[in-house]
Amino acid sequence: MTKEKVQNIALSPNGSAVRILDQTRLPGEVVYLDLTDRGAMYEAVKALRVRGAPAIGIFAAYCVYVLARGYGEDEFFARLDEDCDYLISCRPTAVNLARQTERMRALAHGMEGKPVPEIVEALGREARAIHDEDIAMCRAIAEYGLSLLHEGDTVLTHCNAGPLATSEYGTGLGPLLLAAERGVKLSAYVDETRPLLQGARLTAWELMNAGVDCTLICDNMAALAMGQGRIQAVLAGCDRMAANGDAANKIGTSGAAIIAKHYGVPVYILLPSSTIDLSCPTGADIPIEIRDGEEIRSLWYERPMAPAGVKCWDPAFDVTDHELITAIVTEKGVVRPPYDVNLQKLFG
Ligand code: MRU
Repeated sequence: MTKEKVQNIALSPNGSAVRILDQTRLPGEVVYLDLTDRGAMYEAVKALRVRGAPAIGIFAAYCVYVLARGYGEDEFFARLDEDCDYLISCRPTAVNLARQTERMRALAHGMEGKPVPEIVEALGREARAIHDEDIAMCRAIAEYGLSLLHEGDTVLTHCNAGPLATSEYGTGLGPLLLAAERGVKLSAYVDETRPLLQGARLTAWELMNAGVDCTLICDNMAALAMGQGRIQAVLAGCDRMAANGDAANKIGTSGAAIIAKHYGVPVYILLPSSTIDLSCPTGADIPIEIRDGEEIRSLWYERPMAPAGVKCWDPAFDVTDHELITAIVTEKGVVRPPYDVNLQKLFG
């Protein structure tokens, strides 16, 4: 497999569009889209053309900048507020989307009274800063995560927490990518991650591109793999972490963590501080996105594989109880229990 360097999110060269790599076309095709209007931006998040908690936060920040370039003087703050609310309403679970959008909004409001071109320019700088901060955080997370593994280890991954979902190293995949760069041998079992197959389509593609030995499995094979001693650690990203360490991530993460506990396999959740939400006391306070049941019923199949009209429940995320998490890996270091105390100390 050839090494393919991709840029998941960027501004178009003249700054008039947000350019994304359309993740729904991977791994078959590398297609970039230039998005200029808010409807297309909303659709891109909803349809998971751009996805992953940190990535949708970065994307929203660039969207706010691109949209703000088109506002007139009189309508500037009214339209800014309307578009920020609209972008935030795309997906509820990953806190990064609301957090980075609100950061952009607050910056603009803090400059009220200044000339609009000055505000727009500052928004452009802020979006770039959000992106650069994520690059640096992911790099640090990769280092700390790698320090928990040993040469020759095989890990289990769930969903996609690589560069496509963040920037550069990713979170959950960061240790694997860094190890590959350094010639340290690590392997991965990759959960395909039903129903949207982020593991099969995206994680397998990213790991193969980076030269990391990986083996794709169906989600329901992880218990056998762990029971047979094939897996030394579970590495997962996060969409929102509550103050007590409960971690919302792609549906199926909590199942993998429960199995891991049974077999004594450590579970590491890797995330930047931009994904920690201390205003949510526990995972029960995290809103869980419910998606269209057609993702279960018919998507990916040439012919629907379930009876037409069968009821489906399609939650996109679940919450891994903090008691199942061996350690939380952040850009500030490896956090151990008690998480309510230690997260507050580092990030409060
Ligand atoms: O629905 P998705 O594909 O956006 O879900 C993404 C995940 O659950 C990732 O694991 C999470 O955002 C962490 S990405 C660094």
